[in-house]
Amino acid sequence: ISLKPYNTFGIDVTANFFISVSSTDELKQVLALKNHSNKLILGGGSNMLLTKNFEGLVIHINIKGIKIVSEDDNFVTIKASAGENWHEFVIWCINNDFGGIENLSLIPGNVGTAPIQNIGAYGVELKDTFVSCEAISLETQTVKTFTKTDCNFDYRNSIFKQGAKGKYIITSVTFLLSKKNHKLHVSYGAITSQLETMQVSQPTIQDVSKAVIAIRESKLPNPEEIGNSGSFFKNPVISKSNFDILSKNFSDIPSYPVSKDLVKVPAGWLIEKAGFKGKQFGKYGVHKNQALVLVNYGNAKGSDILNLSKLIQKTVKRIFDISIEAEVNIL
Ligand code: EPU
Repeated sequence: ISLKPYNTFGIDVTANFFISVSSTDELKQVLALKNHSNKLILGGGSNMLLTKNFEGLVIHINIKGIKIVSEDDNFVTIKASAGENWHEFVIWCINNDFGGIENLSLIPGNVGTAPIQNIGAYGVELKDTFVSCEAISLETQTVKTFTKTDCNFDYRNSIFKQGAKGKYIITSVTFLLSKKNHKLHVSYGAITSQLETMQVSQPTIQDVSKAVIAIRESKLPNPEEIGNSGSFFKNPVISKSNFDILSKNFSDIPSYPVSKDLVKVPAGWLIEKAGFKGKQFGKYGVHKNQALVLVNYGNAKGSDILNLSKLIQKTVKRIFDISIEAEVNIL
């Protein structure tokens, strides 16, 4: 079976075996099968680059359902199943006037994969509204609840990329959202100016979502039209002293404070300065509006994109002496 419809990069590789599961019981049964030692778990396929055919069993997580667990006048606790599309879940919350994840509108992928890399955009991260998630152990098929503390969330990072990597499959995520007096995060420059363009002075969560959607649509390619995986690299964190040295040579280098001694530098800026923004190499290249995004214009191989990412890393290292790390999972 071709995995092309199951990864947003649109890479055409195959898997020997494929099964889509729609309940946790079904998933437990599939995991208990002894005849497949090699398993690949697929959610929305929005954060992976497939570079070769997969010799094993692909398990597609298609468990659906959103339910209100509890609520009072101010807050609501919602449990969403792993196979729910992330953006559709955000829109469901916004239509119900539940606040907290509106800044995360239009992020590709599913609910179940969102905690793995602690998705984040425009000043909000998944961890801000996350309560817990349930996950099934690949080895024992038992369900474990991970609290927020257990998850060890950090910038584009969690226990599911560290100690628990490859050991669990998230089946549902529980969020705590506001029902009134929504706390808006609109200080991010792009949001402020988009709200101005929309002539909104007292924004609602609906307005914030609309603003985020407009910004993302103007900068980021739609995976349904051009294959991509969002940001291919993480923004590197460097020491303040290294940054001061760099800014002597590159006076316009942007940065965001991380701590007293550390700053984050936008990888998109480094890649643009290195000359890659909008560069097309036949069937693949670097997006014209956001240099952090690598794109498949059609029928590119995963290995082509991987090689391009290595060339970018090498060039950025040579010019700035900064190592940029891939954010997507390479398989
Ligand atoms: N920049 C450039 N050239 C570019 C891109 C960016 O110079 O081609 C510089 C500009 O100075 C710009 C700054 O980088 O002001 C920041 O750009 P942007 O607001 O687009 O954010 P980012 O740091 O490039 C991160 C996330 C995005 C998220 C945005 C908004 C990472 C790896 N990426 O990008 O997340 O949407 O912030 O919060 O942290 C994703 O993870 O897939 C993703 C799209």
